[in-house]
Amino acid sequence: RSEQKINITFVYRDGERVEVQGRDGDTLLNVVVDHKLKIEGFGACEGTLACSTCHVILDESNYNKLGIVSDEEMDLLDLAFGLTETSRLGCQICLSNHLHGMVVRVPDSVNDIRQTDGAGPSS
Ligand code: FES
Repeated sequence: RSEQKINITFVYRDGERVEVQGRDGDTLLNVVVDHKLKIEGFGACEGTLACSTCHVILDESNYNKLGIVSDEEMDLLDLAFGLTETSRLGCQICLSNHLHGMVVRVPDSVNDIRQTDGAGPSS
């Protein structure tokens, strides 16, 4: 197995770009955690496909390099804020060398579907 690093550029909500490196076999969530990237709320369910906070937006060519989206992922993506044609869940993206140089955009907001919309029960 190769130890070649895979460069990934994250584009934050405010437009700031950060380039980090991952390894073959890492998920995008691993990369965010390993580098302590400051993406608020990202990966709330730790990759168990129970939230949609790891929603990221890819460019079309990289999106097309990734495999088919599972039904479970699709269901969560449907709930994600600002869904696009090239949206994926970061915890379901597995890095491989052909993704080297990928640009990952963080959407403007997140919906954590595990929380009710913040209103809570009112009396
Ligand atoms: Fe929750 Fe990806 S981290 S679905």
